[in-house]
Amino acid sequence: MSMLVLISLGCAEPPTLADRFGDHAFLTPIDAPPTVALVAGGELDTRAATCGGCHQAHYQDWSQSTHAAAVHDVQFLAELAKPDQPRWLCLNCHAPTSPQRAETITASTRLASADSILTLQTNRNPDYERGRTSEGVTCAACHVRRDTDGAGTVIGPHGSGKAPHRVRHDPAALEGVCVSCHSPGAEIVITPTFPCWFTTAEELAAGPSAGKTCVACHMPSAERAVVVDAAPRSLRRHTWAGGGIAKTAEGVATAVERGFVSGLDVTLAPMAVTLTNARAGHSLPTGDPERFFLVEATLRDDAGAVLAADSLRIGQTWDWGDAATGRPARQTADNRLTAGEVRVWTPRLTGRVGTMTVTVTSVRLTSDNAAEMAAVTLDAELQELWPALPSVLAAPMAAYPRSIVVFEGTLALGPT
Ligand code: HEC
Ligand code: HEC
Ligand code: HEC
Ligand code: HEC
Ligand code: HEC
Repeated sequence: MSMLVLISLGCAEPPTLADRFGDHAFLTPIDAPPTVALVAGGELDTRAATCGGCHQAHYQDWSQSTHAAAVHDVQFLAELAKPDQPRWLCLNCHAPTSPQRAETITASTRLASADSILTLQTNRNPDYERGRTSEGVTCAACHVRRDTDGAGTVIGPHGSGKAPHRVRHDPAALEGVCVSCHSPGAEIVITPTFPCWFTTAEELAAGPSAGKTCVACHMPSAERAVVVDAAPRSLRRHTWAGGGIAKTAEGVATAVERGFVSGLDVTLAPMAVTLTNARAGHSLPTGDPERFFLVEATLRDDAGAVLAADSLRIGQTWDWGDAATGRPARQTADNRLTAGEVRVWTPRLTGRVGTMTVTVTSVRLTSDNAAEMAAVTLDAELQELWPALPSVLAAPMAAYPRSIVVFEGTLALGPT
């Protein structure tokens, strides 16, 4: 008996993705065919620029969004360059459709070995088109799926009969598409040092905005033309301004125009700073566990000299574990503002005279981490994903947006 077990173990192939991790959408790329069927016959390729040829307003919005920059990002590529990152898995959400991927990955794809998730046993993907990986979260990630006959169709919110391409009316599918990447399932452990910790939908469901969709806040309506030359009507913007820290300086400068609204309200009273998560239906910050707010209070005398200063960090802290010793990653603290939460912070500033200045900075990446990213060497495969990267890295890292100031205010307490 024990002999048999030994033999079967010896011959066993490494597990499939489904065996190892169960059933999660993010384990495989989205099965979106490389073309959609045209109503009059023939087909249309699903590159963003092709869709954008007719849907110009949507394309312009999307081009400046972080979805379009999900691969064109110094931090993302630098993380991928680390030897312990499962690139295939990162790309499942950052370059998510099958034509963007060189290899075919399905739930029955096997890991290359039982004790590592870094590589898979894959075949060349016949639908792969060079150059498409860089499109990041492209139109097709949300809009293109297979029809019952296997041909590509466009998932639409209205079911227009005026489109030259097939349309499947499915507003619920479109509204629900966000969650598969932004809330893939709380606390899934990919490896002990790599937990998946995006819980935006769970945070939303637990708060006062439960029932609202991500689309309601992140895709505000605006009057525009659905296709070139059409009369303007109320359509959804495709900017996803989010936390307002776009990946380019221009994106940061235009964030408000593209719909960025700070989720935070700040009011000042003598020695008290009231912070309210007034507009984000989820925690502030949400998403990437490395995002945080830095609240800084400074007390100055009438001549401007600093009398005292204090600061508060609002975010998560993590011990990222140690792959070598097997110490698992774990969250060590979380003082984020939950949806609707009102928190009064009393900075330790001695004396009740002078002027109190309060600044709140939203940070997605610290300057130390940014410098580390810039120093990473990328292999040819990663370099090909963003040919313009060398020029971005040649500019001072300070030009790469990492944080924005979301509040600045002063309160006179009394002459010194
Ligand atoms: C389940 C889908 C999913 C997977 C898998 C995934 N990501 Fe992401 N990633 C996201 C989403 C959603 C965001 C946006 C969250 C935010 O901006 O706070 C994001 C944001 C990021 C960012 C930008 C963070 C910021 O604050 O702007 C980096 C860098 C990143 N991911 C790297 C990776 C790497 C490296 C991997 C693989 C180890 C990976 N991601 C795997 C969904 C995913
Ligand atoms: C992250 C997901 C996502 C991506 C990427 C995306 N869209 Fe959309 N799109 C949506 C959602 C959601 C709606 C419907 C919103 C609603 O009305 O509920 C929509 C609506 C539309 C509509 C219908 C008219 C309107 O604005 O309501 C068009 C046309 C459209 N998108 C085109 C595009 C094009 C072209 C691209 C790429 C340049 C693109 N979309 C990328 C999610 C996405
Ligand atoms: C040749 C021009 C053209 C191209 C290319 C094109 N579309 Fe369209 N699309 C249209 C027209 C026209 C409509 C109908 C607009 C209306 O209802 O007035 C439409 C409608 C839509 C809608 C709304 C469907 C609904 O529910 O009413 C979506 C979403 C959409 N297109 C997405 C895409 C995507 C994604 C691509 C790329 C794969 C794409 N389109 C390529 C012309 C085009
Ligand atoms: C296929 C995976 C995927 C889907 C589907 C998806 N996202 Fe994202 N989203 C991402 C990734 C990855 C990023 C981060 C890109 C980066 O920072 O490089 C992101 C970034 C964002 C951001 C910007 C965060 C910031 O502060 O810059 C917002 C807001 C957002 N997504 C909202 C949505 C909404 C709303 C939907 C549904 C209509 C949606 N996403 C669907 C993967 C996805
Ligand atoms: C009630 C409105 C509202 C709803 C609903 C909402 N958001 Fe947000 N979201 C915001 C606001 C406001 C911000 C800007 C927060 C800030 O000040 O940085 C934000 C920021 C973000 C960010 C950037 C990270 C950050 O903390 O700044 C991501 C990613 C995001 N939202 C994803 C989602 C997803 C995914 C959903 C649906 C599950 C969703 N949001 C639902 C209002 C909303």
